[in-house]
Amino acid sequence: MIITIDGPAGSGKSTVARLLARQLGLRFLDTGAMYRAVALAVLRSSIDQQDPGAVATIAAGCQIRFEGDRLLLNQQDVSTDIRLPEVAVAASIVASNPAVRECLVQQQQQIGEPGGLVTEGRDQGTVVFPHARYKFFLTASLDARTRRRLAELESKSQPGTWDDIREQIRQRDERDEQRTLAPMKPAADAVIVDTSELDIDEVVQLLSRTVQSH
Ligand code: DC
Repeated sequence: MIITIDGPAGSGKSTVARLLARQLGLRFLDTGAMYRAVALAVLRSSIDQQDPGAVATIAAGCQIRFEGDRLLLNQQDVSTDIRLPEVAVAASIVASNPAVRECLVQQQQQIGEPGGLVTEGRDQGTVVFPHARYKFFLTASLDARTRRRLAELESKSQPGTWDDIREQIRQRDERDEQRTLAPMKPAADAVIVDTSELDIDEVVQLLSRTVQSH
């Protein structure tokens, strides 16, 4: 069984997907982390992130592996570095590169091959697993997502202002929604869940009930 959870930054999909996978005894895949790993490799190189050929070459040389909650890029643990704000922006930019998407989509489909997976991202229900058994698309208002991101930064003692964070999320949404290749959008058969007024447990229970009632 494959369950896809797509949605914009800050919609809660990562935390929800992880908890839902644990509750149902399935594996969990964070595909955003894979785009972030490629973006980190691009940022660490001297190439221009807008140069499609150079970015494709870097992506081809990226060996990405999950080990529990850790992500290894060419054998190096980059789990913390990929969460930096500049990596999020670069991930959204390199994600419009066709060669990057082709390479990562192939790896994601391989990971999903044996089934038993909850996978989250932007295109999991539309492109990567169009035949997934259950598809969800989580949304939340821009204000709710800004509030969550600020709380997350505060908990890590990292700086951030309301206006900056809100604008960063808005720009990333716009880029992810407007790219021509695999834009962020709900699959036609996805259940759309607005999480603005719900806490994480409520969302997990809602998804879990939907899956178990079938
Ligand atoms: O979910 P995230 O914030 O970690 O994702 C980082 C960026 O990667 C996001 O802005 C767009 C891109 N992405 C994508 O294009 N397709 C996916 N399946 C997952 C992420």
